Amino acid sequence: MLEAVERRLEQYISSLEEPIITELYRKLPSGKRLRAKLILYIAGEKNDAIKLASIVELIHAASLLHDDVIDDAMLRRNKPSINATYGNKVSIMLGDILYSKGFNELTFLDNKIAQIVSNAVTKLSIGELYDVEMSKDFNTDKDKYIDMIYGKTASLIEASAWSAALLCGKKGENYKLYGKNLGLAFQMIDDLLDITSNSDILGKPALHDFVEGKTTIPYIYLYDALDLEQKIKLKSLHKKILSQDESIWILEEMKKNDILSKCYLDAKILIEEAISLMSYENEPKLVAIAKEMIDRNF
Ligand code: FPP
Ligand code: MG
Repeated sequence: MLEAVERRLEQYISSLEEPIITELYRKLPSGKRLRAKLILYIAGEKNDAIKLASIVELIHAASLLHDDVIDDAMLRRNKPSINATYGNKVSIMLGDILYSKGFNELTFLDNKIAQIVSNAVTKLSIGELYDVEMSKDFNTDKDKYIDMIYGKTASLIEASAWSAALLCGKKGENYKLYGKNLGLAFQMIDDLLDITSNSDILGKPALHDFVEGKTTIPYIYLYDALDLEQKIKLKSLHKKILSQDESIWILEEMKKNDILSKCYLDAKILIEEAISLMSYENEPKLVAIAKEMIDRNF
């Protein structure tokens, strides 16, 4: 069923009649298409659902093109990022092209759907801005972290589920909350994986977030658990290229203080609520997506 989305995406790109865009687009790894899947599972495979799913995937791809420039990321899904191969300028402009094409196509859908999706992109951008701002200092405030990941990740997933529900005449509220919870849990798990995975699995080095200045939820919990002297040490390592000993110290303190299980539990609580919402709505495929998100090895 995702093939219809892939075909529509290629059609959107070829309609631009610019061979260079087609060539660059083909270099992008397609990823899991989580947002498209949600939309098709909720709204079925009718034409407008395929359009909406393709638009959201264009916007998502655009946001990652910009994010990789912002994060100076050389890899995206284990392959060289567009900025690594073609430079930052190309990555930004390709992002702008995909983003504006998505917006143009959005104008052909129902106004309410266009409002939900466009509003989510504003939240996405504000979330990313907060991510950048918060990376300047060591953040110890969990609420600030949650607000930021809601913006940069959960808002577009929430909008996908919500707008898909409206597209097929379902009541939106439960789908909206499902999408929000799924998005928050997704980002928390991504942040956990930065600590538990090596670069072969994730396509980026372990503890990369902390080196970049991102005090994600495991570091917030770790800071909380440490004594004063250790707190000072952890803060002193923030945004530094870590020696092997320093990385090992962080990982061992995380282990001693059971930090990863704590983070996992937070994600699990969100996922359990998402599962119960979709069990109530009788949506087994959406229940399965939520389950898959946390049923994995960390
Ligand atoms: C990945 O976060 C980043 C996002 C999910 C959102 C990025 C949003 C923007 C750049 C706003 C601009 C939006 C448009 C449409 C032009 P991450 O760096 O934590 O995750 P990663 O490990 O996948 O890079
Ligand atoms: Mg990034």
